[in-house]
Amino acid sequence: PVKTITLNNGVAMPEIGLGTWKADEEGILAKTIKKAVDLGYRHIDCAKIYGNQKEIGKALSELTVPRKDLFIVSKIWQNVHRPELVAGALDDILDELQLEYLDLLLIHWPYAQKPESDTMNPTVDDLDNVPIMDTWRAMEALLDSGKVRSIGVSNFNQAILEKMIPQCRVVPAVNQVEIHPYNQAPELVKFCQENNIVVTGYCPLGGTKISVMDDDFIKRVANAHACTPAQVALSWSLARGVVVIPKSTNELRLEQNLKTVTLTSDEMRMFSKIEKHERKVDPGRDLKELEWVFHEDTAACPL
Ligand code: A2P
Repeated sequence: PVKTITLNNGVAMPEIGLGTWKADEEGILAKTIKKAVDLGYRHIDCAKIYGNQKEIGKALSELTVPRKDLFIVSKIWQNVHRPELVAGALDDILDELQLEYLDLLLIHWPYAQKPESDTMNPTVDDLDNVPIMDTWRAMEALLDSGKVRSIGVSNFNQAILEKMIPQCRVVPAVNQVEIHPYNQAPELVKFCQENNIVVTGYCPLGGTKISVMDDDFIKRVANAHACTPAQVALSWSLARGVVVIPKSTNELRLEQNLKTVTLTSDEMRMFSKIEKHERKVDPGRDLKELEWVFHEDTAACPL
């Protein structure tokens, strides 16, 4: 079985999960989920905006693995940040996934969009003025409903978390951010871990746009361990205590991604030399109103 990491509320989360964004292009997502669970995956990372939760829900409903052995994550989109919309957003997700409860619900991004706006590429007209703590308090209230075991955030930088943590009744259990060898975010990882927030790294292989798996250093390390560059990238994250959710729809690669190796401390140290600050996902880069989302400076954070 995949090793687990314990969240700040005592809940155990498998440290390798299955990513599902864009995993449905060929309509093979249901098969992928079943295959993954057969191979030993128990943690599945979903989101409302991925548009594929119904297909995932159908696959989940056909599994023979007990629900309590699965760890199902989903994320609310920006258009349900108004506090009065949060509980309904969870019900909608549970409905799509055909589940009674989620193991972890995340706020997908730290800014709000208007209720009618479900675009992934917001313009200034899409933005809504909802303080993140209002949304977070509504998330905290969900814990009492029994429909979610843990709550967390995604794409939150240190500046936002620093402002938020002192105001929280429940500190986020997880911050899910883009982490791979070309976007290492060491300060954010350290800050989260010091504050008992588990970091999950999305795009742990760099996705399709960022060529982590072609990196010469990573290839050399892979040779030394008789494994693949993908396994090196995942092993590096796990050694830092960062949970990984690689996406694959290929059986061999699904299997490969569960088998990690132990890197030497010299190898771990040398990763800092290949950092490129290269991000795959960066929706705020064209919108100056969202620059603060990507700004590390607390003063820039309007929350
Ligand atoms: P595929 O689904 O064909 O396996 P990320 O999780 O960083 O977003 O990366 C996902 C991308 O990496 C997908 O294109 C996926 O393609 C590919 N991928 C997943 N696992 C591996 C692996 N072990 N080796 C090579 N490519 C992989």
